[in-house]
Amino acid sequence: MNITSLQSHILQEESRYQGATGDFTWILSAISLAAKGIAAQVRRARIEDVIGDHGGANVHGETQQKLDMIANDLLMTCLGSRPTIAVVASEEHEEPTILRRGAEGGKYCVIFDPLDGSSNLDVSVSVGTIFSILKNDPSIPGAVETLCQPGTHQVAAGYILYGSSTVFVLTTGRGVNMFVLDPSIGSFVLVKSNLRIPPAAKTYSVNEANRRTFPEGFQRYLDWAHAEEYSSRYIGSMVADVHRTLLKGGVFLYPPTSKNPLGKLRLMYEANPMAMIIEQAGGAAVAPSSAERGGSAVRILEITPSSIHQRTTVVLGSSAEVENVLRHL
Ligand code: AHG
Ligand code: MN
Ligand code: MN
Repeated sequence: MNITSLQSHILQEESRYQGATGDFTWILSAISLAAKGIAAQVRRARIEDVIGDHGGANVHGETQQKLDMIANDLLMTCLGSRPTIAVVASEEHEEPTILRRGAEGGKYCVIFDPLDGSSNLDVSVSVGTIFSILKNDPSIPGAVETLCQPGTHQVAAGYILYGSSTVFVLTTGRGVNMFVLDPSIGSFVLVKSNLRIPPAAKTYSVNEANRRTFPEGFQRYLDWAHAEEYSSRYIGSMVADVHRTLLKGGVFLYPPTSKNPLGKLRLMYEANPMAMIIEQAGGAAVAPSSAERGGSAVRILEITPSSIHQRTTVVLGSSAEVENVLRHL
């Protein structure tokens, strides 16, 4: 039997490039170390006092859970010690943190959602971590300006799902690979390389309670899907909903609502990494604009962000299912 760990997989990938420095291996090993720490805390929720409000609110006005902060601190600590990281940014911090300038060896920026779906923690439903890695442009002095690159510039993206098993899904732009944490040896081991999303599947994933306030096209799509006898699956943890969509096919949507007219999900650390993964697996990821703005759909990865916490509409999944949504808009 041939066991490939996440670490050895990345080393192998890097060795394909001449002059590879191993920088990337260091960054991904920091993320995998933090993920193991977060997984351990999630598993011990309610045994340790880690559930419940932290007492603060993040930049979006959302209540921060204790575990949001624990996950955030673990990622900041693990990434902070890696010598090639220039800037880190998190859902939980209004401003990015400059770790080192280009002249000091800062080559990459990492932006993340430390704990996605954290409001599901107290009922033991799956949560996740989402991250995106970008190159640092040393000629740009401001951290925000350095980070605000379109998703097509991501050099790697991934998520970790803390579910019935702990799953690490990664793309470095050459397909998608899936690893599962083997708790008996403490390593993420490769379980599927070159993962492909099924081209079609009659499942949609959306918070349908918001339907009344969706733009009309989305309501027409839902009527059509009902008539076509689609199934509905929605957890309310993006990582879990996208992971199911990646493996089983279908479409995941977060349309504009009256509460979140621009969409709820965050472009840089939720939509972009997921869009890169889904596209690399052969699917599609788009952001339809409102009817007033022409109603056309742009590829999520082509949006140039103007702020690190910017929101976007999200429609992603099997290509045929994304097309089915777009036909009704
Ligand atoms: P977070 O916990 O990082 O704030 O993200 C929650 C997000 C995402 O995980 C999920 O897809 C979405 O919120 C669910 O929103 P609704 O409860 O409005 O459906
Ligand atoms: Mn989130
Ligand atoms: Mn979060």
